[in-house]
Amino acid sequence: MAEQLFDKVRAMITAIQSAAPANAEELEQFRIRYLGSKNELKPLMGEIRNIVNERKKEFGQLVNEAKQAAEAKLEELRAQLDGSAVAVAATELDLSAPGEPLVLGSRHPIAATMNRIVGIFERIGFVVAEGPEIEDDWHNFTALNTPEDHPARDMQDTYYLKGYEPGAGAQLLRTHTSSVQARTMKSTPPPIRIIAPGRVYRNETISARSHAQFHQVEGLYIDEKVSFADMQQTLFYFAREMYGANTRIRLRPSYFPFTEPSAEMDVSCFICNAEGCNICKYTGWVEILGCGMVDPNVLEECGIDSEKYTGFAFGMGIERQAMMLYNITDIRLMFENDVRFLKQFNSVI
Ligand code: DAH
Repeated sequence: MAEQLFDKVRAMITAIQSAAPANAEELEQFRIRYLGSKNELKPLMGEIRNIVNERKKEFGQLVNEAKQAAEAKLEELRAQLDGSAVAVAATELDLSAPGEPLVLGSRHPIAATMNRIVGIFERIGFVVAEGPEIEDDWHNFTALNTPEDHPARDMQDTYYLKGYEPGAGAQLLRTHTSSVQARTMKSTPPPIRIIAPGRVYRNETISARSHAQFHQVEGLYIDEKVSFADMQQTLFYFAREMYGANTRIRLRPSYFPFTEPSAEMDVSCFICNAEGCNICKYTGWVEILGCGMVDPNVLEECGIDSEKYTGFAFGMGIERQAMMLYNITDIRLMFENDVRFLKQFNSVI
């Protein structure tokens, strides 16, 4: 009787070890049969009472062995079935199907224009300098010969940081990248030859033509014996590189607190070849930048000997140039990040 029971369990172990379910369903049946809540091992364990005491332990161990065999087999079969599922999926793969198209990003017209301007000046030895967008009153105004009572402060409607009144010590959003001039002069002895691109802010009504945030590129060159003629030649080179070899420039006298003398520079209209169009308002000229010889007061305020050194500076807006280059009629489009707009600049510049 006892030996029969032992044989039954041994037969079950053999059956477990040689089980070969062909699919997930049969595997589940295997699990239920040997490891489910009503599995076939349980009643065998109940037979232990019919076993003589000396062999009870041996029998218990054998039934346990059967259970472990079932667990091990289940693991093994599961792994096998998973593997074959992957194999099936692989045979269903269509390796000749066309790939997903790769969507390329594009440069924002502002970035493209700015990079192009910076590149032109880098080729003649200018290096990029940067400064913070949150600036203090001194770097944005005072150092640039624009003391507190100076009327030129009204030329630029300034955003002050919360808790600050206009005046010494105020924190503000820089109104021009000219603030980088002051930073560079304070930290670097001449010769200085920098180009400073960046974002600036002014409290202006937003319209198709103006925005409260925009971008500028500032240039500064300081060394011994730098002359107005050097400035003219540098800017002439820039204009031709930017707008074509036939571009002409003209300088009109102007006023900026930080330069003396100061000028505004126009380039011959590259849209209509100076014949007259709505971009140049039928004058043949478009205004591009402000410039001038650095005022000795600025040099002295920033710790540079104005007897020994002279220099020129210039500053230009990016948006208007980008609008002309890309034929964009509303400045607001450039800050909305609508991909339908941005996508159009894939292949330009
Ligand atoms: N900072 C001036 C502006 O925002 C532009 C400018 C004019 C910069 C003349 C200069 C300069 O460096 O010399 O309107």
